[in-house]
Amino acid sequence: MKVALITGITGQDGSYLAEYLLGKGYRVVGMVRRTSTIDYSRIDHIQDQIEIAHGDLLDQGSLYDIFDTYQPDEVYNLGGQSNVQLSWAQAVLTAESTALGVTRVLDCLRMVTPLARFYQASTSEMFGEADESPQHLGTRLNPRNPYGVAKVYGHLITQNYRQKHGLFAVSGILYNHESPRRDLDFVTRKISHGVAQIKLGLADELRLGNLDAQRDWGFAGDYVRAMWLMLQGDQPRDYVIGSGQAHTVREFCRVAFDVVGLDYQAYVVADPAFFRPAEGHPLVADPGPAQAELGWKPEVGFEALIEMMVRADLAALAS
Ligand code: NAP
Ligand code: GDD
Repeated sequence: MKVALITGITGQDGSYLAEYLLGKGYRVVGMVRRTSTIDYSRIDHIQDQIEIAHGDLLDQGSLYDIFDTYQPDEVYNLGGQSNVQLSWAQAVLTAESTALGVTRVLDCLRMVTPLARFYQASTSEMFGEADESPQHLGTRLNPRNPYGVAKVYGHLITQNYRQKHGLFAVSGILYNHESPRRDLDFVTRKISHGVAQIKLGLADELRLGNLDAQRDWGFAGDYVRAMWLMLQGDQPRDYVIGSGQAHTVREFCRVAFDVVGLDYQAYVVADPAFFRPAEGHPLVADPGPAQAELGWKPEVGFEALIEMMVRADLAALAS
């Protein structure tokens, strides 16, 4: 039985990946950090099938002990501070987990399990104010916030450890992926939750930032499949994963309100408090090479994703 270690198992992607790997017969070990109230809500339903190991990306010794104890065959590094806006307020903490945390994990891999395969959760935010659209592996990295800068470090150190130490280490540059398990801070879940509240009479407006901002959105369940596929190849290499289609926040709102038979224009308020600096070329993936080489294709499209999220929030709020 192969052993998979997932950092960030309590997060959105960690929970979907754990489900996926369990389905493939892996022994799944999830690293959980100590907080005053640990939130297991995303992995409650699989807690009896996984093993929890306590550790923190800021604590080298804890990582080393986990590697030593479980001797993982595959390591998925999904942990870290992942909120773009918060990274301005907590720039150093973001760098500690999202940048240096990667090196700490890679050093364990190098010293304890050098034959293990490693996945690094990189992001389209590394392209930042992008020079071109769609983006591909050759597009210049030009991050525009501390989170993006930290992720560039993680991406490059993964490449460097692969070259210098011969590790099977890959970096997946993933575009926004969402689900009913997305944190409420992110725009998609903020919208689906807001729509459900309005439909049920619990709110009468939804305050958002720039409605013309564009993103390449997909379903998290589809994207964790790509992570696994990247570790099954003959050679380690990096991939760009996205749908290849950009949509505006406004379109997301229109479809989400349509699901409950309402017109978004009557409820959505543009609030300067949620605006970010103007963005140039839209962040949209060129997923061609990943589709050709990995045989990966998303199964849930834009409308289906939104419907799934709105219905899940309606059901949760109505219960
Ligand atoms: P998420 O829901 O925010 O989950 C982040 C996870 O990291 C949580 O389990 C969190 O644990 C853990 N974590 C935070 N700080 C940690 C630390 N110091 N030590 C150990 N664990 C720590 O993020 P996600 O959406 O699942 O994304 C997974 C990864 O992919 C992240 O690295 C993210 O930056 C990256 N990514 C995400 C997207 C996307 O659209 N979702 C796109 C590209 C890349 P707690 O529960 O204790 O907070
Ligand atoms: N959060 C938020 N709240 N975003 C808003 C709002 C609002 O009220 N109104 C408009 N937006 C716009 C943002 O300006 C941005 O252009 C877009 O919606 C998406 O914002 P988020 O959902 O917060 O996600 P993100 O793109 O900043 O970051 C997520 O995706 C990255 C991949 O591109 C995170 O998951 C990152 O960890 C991930 O790397």
